[in-house]
Amino acid sequence: MNYYSEDIISAIDPCVVLHPLFEDWYEIVEKVLLNDEFQRRKMFMHHHEMTVWDHSILVSFNSFLVGRYFNADLKVCALAGLLHDFYSQAWISTPELEEFENGRYVQLMKIKKPLFKRHGFTHAKDASINYVKYFPELENKKITNSIKRHMFPLNIIPPRYKEGVIITAIDKWNSVHELPSITVVPKMVQNLPNKAFNYFFRKI
Ligand SMILES: [Fe+2]
Ligand SMILES: [Fe+2]
Repeated sequence: MNYYSEDIISAIDPCVVLHPLFEDWYEIVEKVLLNDEFQRRKMFMHHHEMTVWDHSILVSFNSFLVGRYFNADLKVCALAGLLHDFYSQAWISTPELEEFENGRYVQLMKIKKPLFKRHGFTHAKDASINYVKYFPELENKKITNSIKRHMFPLNIIPPRYKEGVIITAIDKWNSVHELPSITVVPKMVQNLPNKAFNYFFRKI
């Protein structure tokens, strides 16, 4: 086994660490996992029971595994999967984030925005910009496109490459699995049809 930072390994789901292909995956993503800004995603909640750090690692590793069956570029699968939710501002506030550096990661969530400027519609593009900002040496058009388009069909333009299709599918699959209960879904989306209607027709 190569050198691994113990802190990093202990922060990764054991299902991933114990997998026979862990080393192959880790070699690709180590640089991102060791990055300070990326490590702050341990404080961001993806939903109320899982962090963005944990979710991103699972999407990355599962996309890496699935990519092997579709002859995909595994580097793109692993990196785009890991960085697909590398957005700047948290969408769930926590006491830890409120206190961290004067709440810099939760400042914008307090500003009321129109529907299509909200997290679900904007975070994919934000993550694709952050990816290049923090990891310019890893810049790759397939990774950029896969990150930017992972919210298809909520964002209407689909991914251009098969690696992006894999990440988009795995992200949704994992997100459903990570929900504590299927009854959470109606709570999260119950107002969406009304909001969308108001957005399109409020001027009539
Ligand atoms: Fe996302
Ligand atoms: Fe995601």
